[in-house]
Amino acid sequence: MKGIVFSILSEMVEETFGLDAWNKLLDDTGLEGIYVATETYDDSELFTLVAAAESATGIPAKELVHQFGVYMLPHFVANYPVFFENQTSLKDFLLTVDQVIHVEVRKLYPDAGLPEFLYEDRDDNELVMMYSSPRKLCALAEGLIEGSANHFNQSCSIIHDVCMHKGADHCRFELKISEKPEQA
Ligand code: HEM
Repeated sequence: MKGIVFSILSEMVEETFGLDAWNKLLDDTGLEGIYVATETYDDSELFTLVAAAESATGIPAKELVHQFGVYMLPHFVANYPVFFENQTSLKDFLLTVDQVIHVEVRKLYPDAGLPEFLYEDRDDNELVMMYSSPRKLCALAEGLIEGSANHFNQSCSIIHDVCMHKGADHCRFELKISEKPEQA
């Protein structure tokens, strides 16, 4: 995992639970906790931190990772605005993740651990995304999709029946996208 992922994680923990909470996580895990955005760190550090955060907060790891994805997306908007500039809808944006965004990320960071997405483009407001990755971070993917929906001011429901954590070789996300109701 690139250091940028850990930097965003530390920021989320500090913002949500306080600076002491991040320091306690480092104490509990014995990790140094100094991350340089462009450097690569072992994936296991992320899973160790998430497991420690689950023990400390009582919030299930899956939920923490999901919230991390929601939190991460605005950081991507700020750090990589080019990928959002000409995008007006959640669906068109998501269709660029595999063949445009992650391809560019790979050029920037050749050793990045990126997932693969395949798509079934069914209907205007429906999209199926098939996720596969040895890291099985489907909860992160769902959070990033939710964060993206927030960015485009749309709503998105996700049915996630086929899952790598249930023995499948990929996860299947069936998305139904709708416009957010006008705020009163
Ligand atoms: C501008 C938008 C995006 C940028 C710049 C971006 C970039 C990245 C980067 C830098 C990583 C970390 C690679 C590593 O640590 O080695 C990553 C991982 C990941 N990205 Fe993206 N990403 C974007 C959007 C998305 C979206 C919308 C999704 C979900 C549909 C997504 C799904 C994932 C997942 C699940 C991972 C974790 C690694 C794995 O599952 O194997 N990304 N991305």
